[in-house]
Amino acid sequence: MADPTRAPEHMSPDEFRRRGREVVDFIADYMQRVDTLPVLPDVRPGEVAGLLPDAAPEEPEPWERLFADVGRVVMPGLTHWQSPNFFAFFPANSSGPAILADLLSTGLAVQGMLWQTSPACTEIETRVMDWLGRAIGLPEPFLAASGTGGGVIQGTASEATLVAMLAGRQRARRLLAAGASHDPAFTVYTSTQAHSSVIKAAMIAGIARGPDDRTAVRLIGTDSSYRVDCAALEAALREDLAAARVPCCVVATVGTTGCGAADSVEDAAGAIARACGASAPWLHVDAAWAGAAAVCPEHRGLLRGVGRADSLCFNPHKWLLTNFDCSAMWVRDRGPLLGALSITPDYLRNAASESGAVIDYRDWQVPLGRRFRALKLWFVMRAYGLRGLREHVRAHVRLGELFESLVRADPRFEVAAPRSLSLVCFRQVRDSLGAPLPDPDGANRALLDRVNATGRAYLVHTVLPAAGGEPARLVLRMAVGGTRTGEAHVRAAWELLQSAAE
Ligand SMILES: Cc1ncc(COP(=O)(O)O)c(C=O)c1O
Repeated sequence: MADPTRAPEHMSPDEFRRRGREVVDFIADYMQRVDTLPVLPDVRPGEVAGLLPDAAPEEPEPWERLFADVGRVVMPGLTHWQSPNFFAFFPANSSGPAILADLLSTGLAVQGMLWQTSPACTEIETRVMDWLGRAIGLPEPFLAASGTGGGVIQGTASEATLVAMLAGRQRARRLLAAGASHDPAFTVYTSTQAHSSVIKAAMIAGIARGPDDRTAVRLIGTDSSYRVDCAALEAALREDLAAARVPCCVVATVGTTGCGAADSVEDAAGAIARACGASAPWLHVDAAWAGAAAVCPEHRGLLRGVGRADSLCFNPHKWLLTNFDCSAMWVRDRGPLLGALSITPDYLRNAASESGAVIDYRDWQVPLGRRFRALKLWFVMRAYGLRGLREHVRAHVRLGELFESLVRADPRFEVAAPRSLSLVCFRQVRDSLGAPLPDPDGANRALLDRVNATGRAYLVHTVLPAAGGEPARLVLRMAVGGTRTGEAHVRAAWELLQSAAE
């Protein structure tokens, strides 16, 4: 019978040192060879799971066996997001300083829910979020230094949208008649091109009854460049106010997932002010991908009018060299956010919190516990400097321009939406004899499948809805932004697309 007093055997610090070096070597080797691996794995559903036993081992296994399984089980089943030939979705950047800082964060293993549970975790986050806010040109009220606003690192842009919506509802409740015993019908607004996380946030918040609830979530049409139609937004706000519904949140997108279109924050704020006056709904700017570009002064125009928004989010974990997860969010007034998310059981009470002199980030997010994510952002910002971050973005924007020019030079293809930074939507419309393709959607889907099957590049498609006289169209997306993606990779991907085209 097992000895009930026995304690498990932990990895000793010396063994950890040895094994840790092996793991770091493995990662460094991976960085060196990831460009040679097929971007998409060749596995069938269930194949990876089939390599694992049905139940956990009863007895401890030696490290050698565990680590060997990374090569046997894990590697063949990976999509290589860090391949320079990865052009799908949006990039999910990684970098040496970020990986090592994340390792430190995991090794130190603190929880930063309260200032008191790790003052460094909180204070570095506050300071670094002010650095980043200044780096993208945010007005002073969004910075913690202002005393009223401030930044917080969320896990994802989806969480940022959710907490913004909760803050918006909280503020709207305060504006309602004092003593109202139940909520009115709250409504939220975003464009047809917005990310699905906006509808999901409304579902989680209990504002929407389901994904198709178009009374609670108004999807506003777009112009021919896929930017939200602010006249239609104003009309929808007025219509709902007239029907005694209460608009509580508008989400503007700067850099839509489909084609990178940027809503005008300025015009959205104007529409809101005209329709709602003093009881304006919360205006959140979802700049998940494109916000990173604002580190370059020449791209700050994307955020014009942000001073009239209530919150903004972008993901350094997409295009700013910081490993997932790191979603940077700022609010202009932290009051409604704290009002929506603060609850203080006895065991969380402490003198520092009660003094009012500290930030407790648990009140700025959904979960209680939080990792020391600021460490990787701090390391990245210092290791690259703002100059390095600008060079990173500019290099990819130049590659986006290059790809666009290559597409335009081949009469079989067309650019299907205005290029946005380093994202180009394009499609084949003619065959090699110059005749229009009878079924361009089918042809482009097949082209994509042929390209992705080679393993030499990975792109995805999107469907752009009817706009500006064009019918809805399936288009291919070339999203340049990998940490190690250079001109040779973009040219090779284009040659592959050309040779796979009809
Ligand atoms: C505009 C936009 N918003 C939100 C998201 C969701 O991001 P996250 O995975 O950080 O929630 C994405 C993802 O690509 C996006 O493009």
